[in-house]
Amino acid sequence: MTSPRFSIVPLGREHKRTGFCSGTGLLDRYFTELVSQDIRRNLTKCFVAVDNEQGDIAGFYTLSAAQIPLLHLPEKLAKQMPRYNAVPASRLGRLAIDKRYQGQGLGSVLLADALYRSSDSSLAVYALLADAKDEHAEAFYLHHGFIPCDGVPNTLFLPLGTIGKL
Ligand SMILES: CC(C)(COP(=O)(O)OP(=O)(O)OC[C@H]1O[C@@H](n2cnc3c(N)ncnc32)[C@H](O)[C@@H]1OP(=O)(O)O)[C@@H](O)C(=O)NCCC(=O)NCCS
Repeated sequence: MTSPRFSIVPLGREHKRTGFCSGTGLLDRYFTELVSQDIRRNLTKCFVAVDNEQGDIAGFYTLSAAQIPLLHLPEKLAKQMPRYNAVPASRLGRLAIDKRYQGQGLGSVLLADALYRSSDSSLAVYALLADAKDEHAEAFYLHHGFIPCDGVPNTLFLPLGTIGKL
């Protein structure tokens, strides 16, 4: 039996982040220089896709707790909710694939992993929120069925009840 090409695991000290390059400077700098501080402060978790053949980090994403104010859901969905101010969510704050691995389906795999971990949480999570850094990123999330939040540019969400489709 062949072993899988990639493992998706929490970022650890053993992972070499230097040189990671998705082509989006802000994301790369955050991953190579800043993410550990946020992890230490319990502000985020970070998961990486490790290439089991090369040992390189092929991609990463961050996940943290969030909420979506009912005002930001499309009216049709908001009407189906109880009269709470907000619904619980998890936030995919950052997602990036190293240039060498882009276009091979890994972005979709990390997205699916974030959805799986969100739905497998001990906490109730209604939807996965995603922050899109630019139009290119927004198009990626729209392609995967995400819905734009009302009145919040560059923020989209995907109800976990729909993840079967992905
Ligand atoms: C956006 C990004 C995460 C996509 O990752 P990837 O591994 O190259 O994408 P995949 O190969 O998994 O693409 C999967 C599907 O999404 C589509 N897709 C990929 N990028 C897309 C985009 N920008 N817009 C629309 N669709 C896109 C692919 O065509 C493919 O469609 P298919 O499954 O129907 O054939 C990657 O290009 C990246 O890291 N970019 C720089 C950082 C960034 O923009 N991050 C986004 C979050 S802030």
